[in-house]
Amino acid sequence: MRLGSWGADMSPREVANFLTSCVDLGCKDIDLADIYGDHSVNKLIGQALAIAPELKRSCNFIAKIGVARKCAAFPARKINFYDSSDQALKTAFENTLRDLNVESVQTLMIHRFDYLTDFHALARCVGDILASGKAKNFGISNCNLSICSAIGDILPVSSNQIQLSLAHPTPVLTGDASHFSKLGLDVMAWSPLGAGTLLDAKESRVFKKAERIAKKYDVSVPEIFFAWVYKCPSTRPVTGSSKIERIKQAASARDIELTHEEWYQLLEASRARGVD
Ligand SMILES: NC(=O)c1ccc[n+]([C@@H]2O[C@H](COP(=O)([O-])OP(=O)(O)OC[C@H]3O[C@@H](n4cnc5c(N)ncnc54)[C@H](OP(=O)(O)O)[C@@H]3O)[C@@H](O)[C@H]2O)c1
Repeated sequence: MRLGSWGADMSPREVANFLTSCVDLGCKDIDLADIYGDHSVNKLIGQALAIAPELKRSCNFIAKIGVARKCAAFPARKINFYDSSDQALKTAFENTLRDLNVESVQTLMIHRFDYLTDFHALARCVGDILASGKAKNFGISNCNLSICSAIGDILPVSSNQIQLSLAHPTPVLTGDASHFSKLGLDVMAWSPLGAGTLLDAKESRVFKKAERIAKKYDVSVPEIFFAWVYKCPSTRPVTGSSKIERIKQAASARDIELTHEEWYQLLEASRARGVD
């Protein structure tokens, strides 16, 4: 999301080098969406893949579609909206493959739930795409439990990408995160550092608590924030950094085993209150 015009503004060569380094670290799942960079990031990735074509095999691309964004690429749009109708999804998916210049992606993901979704039409549309082999898996994003279950009744849902971090712990508090895990979903936590805000607020209770725990494990503060996310059931962070050293931190945090009490201490610090 942040590699192009919404962030680091990398060149195709820089993206190719960055993705190669990510793959070398074992971070092969690359989260994309057609809207990122106002419809420019998939093209940027496609240019990077032309420079380093071996990345087509080594990366698992997650292609999110389903958001219609008002931006220069679509001047006729007056507002942002969600569209999971058959034609909109098929067009967006074909545009994604074209921009990435790949034959298929690992995961087709619905970015946001369209309130006008016809579940049976969605099942036919996604079923067609899966049958074509152009996407190996189907995932959803930002879906609550009831939507997740309803879609899961008609389609093989592999993942749900949700906002989850110490800056936004709601899905664990409601029990939804545990329930997604029970459903067998790969739970992907977006903005695991609260889009960087958890690190900016150095005087906050949660930062100071993380600092103390980081000392015990001899790791950095961001690693503690990532470790908190990893400890949530079946959950892994979708990090948004464009710096390889920071991707390394997100990967190495997998090995930190926070105790149950430490996980709750961090939660307590972020909410400014404990549990009863
Ligand atoms: N499904 C959805 O609706 C949805 C919504 C939002 C995002 N996402 C996905 O989630 C990804 C992550 O979101 P995010 O970028 O908001 O996540 P994040 O990892 O919480 O925040 C990343 C931001 O924090 C900064 N940062 C500072 N120190 C860092 C450190 N030590 N490690 C990592 N980052 C550090 C990064 O800057 P530097 O680049 O300078 O390191 C970057 O600006 C996005 O790239 C996108 O793929 C999905």
